[in-house]
Amino acid sequence: MTFRQQHLLGIEPLHPTEITTLLDLADSYAEHNRKGIAHKDVLAGLTQINMFFENSTRTQASFELAGKRLGADVMNMGMQASSIKKGETLIDTALTLNAMRPDLLVVRHPHSGAVDLLAQKVNCAVLNAGDGKHEHPTQALLDALTIRRAKGRLHRLSIAICGDIAHSRVARSNIMLLGKMENRIRLIGPPTLMPSGIGEFGAEVFENMEEGLKDVDVVMMLRLQKERMDGGFIPSEREYFHRYGLDAEKLQHAKPDAIVMHPGPMNRGVEIDGTIADDINRSVIQEQVEMGVAVRMAAMDLLAQNLRANRKPQEVTA
Ligand code: NCD
Repeated sequence: MTFRQQHLLGIEPLHPTEITTLLDLADSYAEHNRKGIAHKDVLAGLTQINMFFENSTRTQASFELAGKRLGADVMNMGMQASSIKKGETLIDTALTLNAMRPDLLVVRHPHSGAVDLLAQKVNCAVLNAGDGKHEHPTQALLDALTIRRAKGRLHRLSIAICGDIAHSRVARSNIMLLGKMENRIRLIGPPTLMPSGIGEFGAEVFENMEEGLKDVDVVMMLRLQKERMDGGFIPSEREYFHRYGLDAEKLQHAKPDAIVMHPGPMNRGVEIDGTIADDINRSVIQEQVEMGVAVRMAAMDLLAQNLRANRKPQEVTA
């Protein structure tokens, strides 16, 4: 067994062999999903609760589908409508849910670190579905699987991550994962959208798209996270698209077989041109969504195996 985690809170604690174990399993789930082979036994008898304190379309749907494909009882807590609105603390909400004895808790929260805190208070496996600007591990894992399938490997690739790096948990998790797997990472964007302490990331930083994209294998675009901006980070969306929006002209600087990625939701005409996003010869954006289900199936499968192995006999039968 090469996956030892009790929770999936971030990429940071993962060993490269754990990443490979998870991606290998996800790859086989992806093939089985395409063939319509069911695996209802894997999470049978387990309860999965999805708690999303922040809006989500694809991540929540993907976790729900992944749990159902593996036979879990899946419940979505509408956190907007719940007691959180009445002033209940995160910990009280967690303890209430814990009393319902879930096995897998999937949490998205606007505050960095909130999911880690919650994991310390419950006795089930917790999966981080995005916490503030901190981490979004399943997104980085699904991106990694998409890259590995398109390029045939996940090492020694040149990968550009472009745009709003400062506000992006997707960027942070990807930088960590791709770095662990020994790829060359380039971060491209205006200085106002680069996080402080950027030097510690071990990546090359570019202000200019044409220079930064030169000969890369992968172009990963990020959404301008307007909801996390509290001032003038960019002059205007029009100007931003002109300088940093991915269009056919800028993409020419990458390798001829470079793939284009975006975690969604996309702002067409702001960070990416719609024609590039829809170009099936370059864009793997739909494949990312498909791999999202497979990666979440693999993550919940591995965590459930560890959960079952570590629970005391009376807890299993209770
Ligand atoms: C990302 C997120 O929520 O962090 N989206 C996603 O999970 N598919 C990126 C974003 O919101 O821009």
